[in-house]
Amino acid sequence: MSRLVTLFLCLFLIVRTSIAGEGMWLPILLSQLNEKDMQTMGMRITAEDIYSVNHSSLKDAIVLFGGGCTAEIVSNQGLILTNHHCGFSNIQRHSTLEHDYLTDGFWASSLTEELPNPGLSVTFLVSMEDVTEKILQGISPDMKGSERDAIILKNRGKVESEASKGSRYKASVKAFYSGNQFYLIMTETFTDIRLVGAPPSNIGKFGGDTDNWMWPRHTGDFSVFRIYANKNNEPADFSKDNIPYTPKKSLTISLKGVKEGDFTFVYGFPGTTQEYLPSYAVDMAANQRNPIAIKLRQQKLDLIDKAMENDKLTRIQYAAKAASVANFWKKMIGESKGINRLDAIEKKQQFEAGFEIWVNAENSRKDLYGNILTDYRQSIEDFRPYHKAYTYLTEGAMGVEIIRFAYGYNNLLKQCREKTTADDEIIKSAAKLKAGVPGYFKNYNSKLDEAIFAKLMETYGKECDPAFLPPIFTEAMAKYEGSYKAWAADVFKKSMFADSSKMNTLLDNFTRKRSKKIEEDPAFLVARSVYAFLQDKLVPVVNSFYLKADSLQRVYMKAQMEMQTGKVFYPDANSTLRVAYGNVKGYSPADAVDYRWFTTLDGILEKENPDVYDYVVTPRLRELSTSRDYGRYADADGSMHVAFIATNHTTGGNSGSPVLDADGNLVGINFDRCWEGTMSDLIYDPDQCRNIALDIRYCLFIIDRYAGAANLIKEMNFATR
Ligand code: ARG
Ligand code: GLU
Repeated sequence: MSRLVTLFLCLFLIVRTSIAGEGMWLPILLSQLNEKDMQTMGMRITAEDIYSVNHSSLKDAIVLFGGGCTAEIVSNQGLILTNHHCGFSNIQRHSTLEHDYLTDGFWASSLTEELPNPGLSVTFLVSMEDVTEKILQGISPDMKGSERDAIILKNRGKVESEASKGSRYKASVKAFYSGNQFYLIMTETFTDIRLVGAPPSNIGKFGGDTDNWMWPRHTGDFSVFRIYANKNNEPADFSKDNIPYTPKKSLTISLKGVKEGDFTFVYGFPGTTQEYLPSYAVDMAANQRNPIAIKLRQQKLDLIDKAMENDKLTRIQYAAKAASVANFWKKMIGESKGINRLDAIEKKQQFEAGFEIWVNAENSRKDLYGNILTDYRQSIEDFRPYHKAYTYLTEGAMGVEIIRFAYGYNNLLKQCREKTTADDEIIKSAAKLKAGVPGYFKNYNSKLDEAIFAKLMETYGKECDPAFLPPIFTEAMAKYEGSYKAWAADVFKKSMFADSSKMNTLLDNFTRKRSKKIEEDPAFLVARSVYAFLQDKLVPVVNSFYLKADSLQRVYMKAQMEMQTGKVFYPDANSTLRVAYGNVKGYSPADAVDYRWFTTLDGILEKENPDVYDYVVTPRLRELSTSRDYGRYADADGSMHVAFIATNHTTGGNSGSPVLDADGNLVGINFDRCWEGTMSDLIYDPDQCRNIALDIRYCLFIIDRYAGAANLIKEMNFATR
């Protein structure tokens, strides 16, 4: 071996165990992989206190909230805390011009006032077990991907059905390390979840989208719900007879706060990360997908923001929609910037060069991994134009509400055309669609949607490669002489999908014959062309790419683990329960700038601006602030701490996760990441990546002093030291 090769190998083989802060670890492996490290960093409890199947542990107080957030139990009566933005769509759904809980907040003063939320659920992890061997039974290394997948699917089904036999828990097998390991996960889901309290938006969303993903932050991002169960303390759908759930474990709250350097950990359900991708995949995400999506979302947000500023009803109608469009928009900007500032692509390329040297150093490796990177690069090159078109279609055309809404009627139309579908089935489908009409139009402004149609379709039509445009574009451009505004105006004037009364006319006593109305509707025609193009021309390529990429990534992941034997790997996030741990720490976002690790209520008054919606401070909060009477919620320094940052590695889904201290006591609620570190889903940088947590004392201060909901505080348990 040449000296250079030896040097490369040394660099890659002698790697540190882990980068401080990086990693989302499996709770069941903590005792094996992380406990020592955590205790060295300051933790005073054990891995068994965090996760145990034999007795109650912290894990029993953590739930997956809805589809994509985390919440934690803080009382023996099933009271849970999550973020305001996690409860947002539920708070929004209960809001009207008369009862505007978004603006004014909501507090139930007794159990009977707590509001049910159909569709909302929370899920507990009951247990987790490595079943890799069972799942890989019958697999040989030279098997084709499709063959392998079929066997795995069968084995999975077997393991799941065996596990759920005679159990009241749901069993599912999930893949880890890109499909190299498998775990059986048993869960229990509760479906009667009621809204207990939410601060007004100018506390819960203070700083709005302007401050989103940024530090210094002053958002009181929390809301309060309660889990209900039947008389046997088991999951049950909503019923007046249900009672508050008695948990196995509820968290103890510490009012001591944290100090710089303190150990903390975040316990929750991170959604998706892709830390082990090759450079080309990162490049496609950061430099192709993100810029297109950012531009289209920016155009949409400009229109929504203007409409919301001018009209109170639109503000309520579009609050949740705007927030979700804006959230990922801003995340993508931060991510692409972070990737470029960190030279992440070059770093990955260097790693890949070292990888090739390692592979070529031995024939057995050459056989297994010799082509992996070239194949991967080629697949991505071939996929790029399709991925681009896919991004334009999903972010452009599908960003228009009427297009998505109209397409929802395609199935009814199909049923009407099929002779085999009986009339009463058609009536059932129409009734189902009719039930969705009021909810859809409650949050719909057709003037605004028309403007969005004109703008997004124009960008899509002009920037996307013509070979990748749905045929409706050519027809429309000929008909409206190149005017997207005229196209939009005509569609919205004539389409019944823009008007609730026309929709009701269609659906009242619906019969087969009326299907013609759907078929001839101009919005439906646009939708049909767009979705047909998606399904016929793009989806097959997208699916086959991801199938191939998944199998390439599996092999590449395996090879990376073989090469870096000294490194402890954590699996990418996949919405399973994880522990991230780190230290409370400020950072330096730019030359000559240092960020402190906490913010205070004084900062809220510094940011106050009565003319800007995001920075309005209510007289009550100002009063509480000037009195400086924070009682037991004050920090030792006398101020009211609002938020703090730490090096915990978190991602979307960790919203609402408890931030726990060295003793396992609740000190904060995770709600965001700092701007400079938003690339951490693709690559983590210990200097820049920070999670943002709401200080639990500010949350309780608002509940207790601002809302006067002392009844809730009474339910909670506090640490004595
Ligand atoms: N950025 C945080 C997260 O990803 C908070 C989002 C709240 N939404 C918003 N648009 N401000 O979930
Ligand atoms: N706000 C994010 C969420 O919904 C958490 C922030 C992040 O992505 O780290 O889960």
